[in-house]
Amino acid sequence: MTKPKVFVTRMIPDKGLDLIKDFCDVDLWPAELPPGRAELLQHARGVDGLLCLLTDRIDGEAMDEAGPQLKVISNHAVGFDNIDVNAATARKIPVGNTPDVLTDATADFAFALMMAAGRRILEGDRYVREGKWKTWGPMLLLGIEMKGAALGLIGFGRIGKAMARRAAGFDMRVIYYDPKETKPDPDIKATRVDFETLLEESDFISLHTPLTPDTRHLIDTEALSKMKPGAVLINTSRGPVVDPDALYEALKEHRIFGAGLDVTEPEPLPLDSPLLTLDNIIIVPHIASASKTARDKMSWMAAKNLIAGLKREHLPNCVNPQVYGTGENPKSKAGR
Ligand code: DGY
Repeated sequence: MTKPKVFVTRMIPDKGLDLIKDFCDVDLWPAELPPGRAELLQHARGVDGLLCLLTDRIDGEAMDEAGPQLKVISNHAVGFDNIDVNAATARKIPVGNTPDVLTDATADFAFALMMAAGRRILEGDRYVREGKWKTWGPMLLLGIEMKGAALGLIGFGRIGKAMARRAAGFDMRVIYYDPKETKPDPDIKATRVDFETLLEESDFISLHTPLTPDTRHLIDTEALSKMKPGAVLINTSRGPVVDPDALYEALKEHRIFGAGLDVTEPEPLPLDSPLLTLDNIIIVPHIASASKTARDKMSWMAAKNLIAGLKREHLPNCVNPQVYGTGENPKSKAGR
């Protein structure tokens, strides 16, 4: 029996890759850097399934280049702004993602960034390495205490809620802004507020929203001007949610205390970015979900989505379930 052909756009953990290799004829992109556009289109040609990363732009052109036999697009990420989901839906192609399994890793990391930026840990490390440490100083590198501080969460989905749970252990007050009404959780103490109130009242603001046309540059000059002078901004969502020029100005003028970015606009951040000249910002290379446990589970889940799509079954995690609502329905494990 011939195996379905798939293109996997980068090396992923064996947990998922082994499943895929068992079931499919795999074209695996071997390089550390993602395929360029021409290479992506070339390798997509004629495949039954695509397993892609957030670094791959999968639009209508890529889908058409693959051809009408393309049955599934599986993203190795919870975010899927790299995929034109409307184009996939129009072509009745289900799109999969990897929610839940990276929630704790990402919330841990956002919390770590919050504490590192608030308590100036990297500045302290540089201070020591640069030979500036001469004595203990009563006012040396003063930062922000967590206890009693207000944590403002923008986006109150899985990761936002995991942040609120962590904040309870630090005796923080949690407020959140989410345009979507979320189901109340009796175990989480957090108050829903409007966007303005969140900006004005938070000591720490952490972003946990998807990138959409509405959230692009949500944190701009105006939003930054409403934040407390002592506030710290954390972004582990998507880089373009923050306007980098506006952030640079706010940090340079010390209009806010600091920032911690796991994600930037663009990625990777060029070495001549003015943000890199500042001391009051920590920037790391999009690694919030990078625990071994989370990445193993992400690859496994992405593989499950891919294989389900190839078998014309419901994807375990499908972002456009409406593809199953019309036309010929695939077999559904969920018994729909
Ligand atoms: C995601 O999954 O969307 C993260 O940004 C990377 O793990």
